[in-house]
Amino acid sequence: MSSGEAHNHPDRNLALELVRVTEAAALATAPLVGRGDKEAADQAAVDGMRYMLHSVQMDGVVVIGEGEKDEAPMLYNGEHIGDGSAPEVDIAVDPLEGTTLAAHGMPSALAVIALSDRGSMFDPGPCVYMEKMAGSPEIADLLDLDRPLGETVRLVAQRKGHDVGDGMVVVLDRPRPEQGIREIREAGARVRLIAHGDVSAALLAVTERSPVDMLWGIGGTPEGVISAAAIKCLGGQLLGRLWPREEDERAAALAAGYDLEQILDCEALVKGDDVFFSATGVTDGDVLQGVRYPSAGGATTESLVMRRRSNPVRRISARHDRAKLRAMGRGTGH
Ligand code: FBP
Repeated sequence: MSSGEAHNHPDRNLALELVRVTEAAALATAPLVGRGDKEAADQAAVDGMRYMLHSVQMDGVVVIGEGEKDEAPMLYNGEHIGDGSAPEVDIAVDPLEGTTLAAHGMPSALAVIALSDRGSMFDPGPCVYMEKMAGSPEIADLLDLDRPLGETVRLVAQRKGHDVGDGMVVVLDRPRPEQGIREIREAGARVRLIAHGDVSAALLAVTERSPVDMLWGIGGTPEGVISAAAIKCLGGQLLGRLWPREEDERAAALAAGYDLEQILDCEALVKGDDVFFSATGVTDGDVLQGVRYPSAGGATTESLVMRRRSNPVRRISARHDRAKLRAMGRGTGH
């Protein structure tokens, strides 16, 4: 085969392998949904994800993981994953995005993974939180973290051709963004407060015909990088700005060379076109159905599986055999 022919051949779509990884995490977590133990739910998700990650041929480094090595025995930042063969990739994982949501049986808990070329993912270093704003392609150019929020909400309504009062902004419910919430309401728009899960909220904000026009708020930096990977595949934009919690964190970030004024867009958070993403619903949500047990012998999952370069956005519904799950449980120690 000539090199030209080889070039024209469809290449490997890693996202189609990653879906097995997020399915495994979601399936391992599902028995612990609503049991009130978020650590156990998270551990099950990590074990499930890890078990299936071994099957992916790659030379991966975890950039966004479960934390530092001493506090996270698995999927820690800097950990090498895969069998060491090509491609060389950065990995962002959130085996259970929304630990409290899962533990309380609340909507929108997800298992998530994103992959991109080695060195292309933003490493948030000591910064735990970032201010975020996200929206669909239709309003992407209107997003601005410096403009007063009320004004942005009005511009978005104008662009979408509806009254400001019909607009809805999804915001993570924390004391941190109180002022912003006030500004949105004073502009006349509505606010949908969520307890947790701003990755799911970011996906919802960029989705066509979504019930929300925009995401705004201060949430986790790792979740910001993961959301950016998804939005690069789906279309739309996310802007982020690091938000140090206190003086020590600010000083540590500055000493490490971070620019705290910089606006990070999706391209700054995850560079390039080789971006792969998979999310599987753990509990039912706006974006994905959670794990269900339609019969004693089986379980179903729904996943969003995407690749930036060729742009397919797949929703994969799968039916799983319980006997196989039990075998998987032996592999993960559950
Ligand atoms: P966990 O899955 O780690 O519990 O995170 C859920 C989440 O709500 C994220 O979606 C969000 O970005 C982050 O926590 C916000 O952090 P905090 O709860 O500390 O405000």
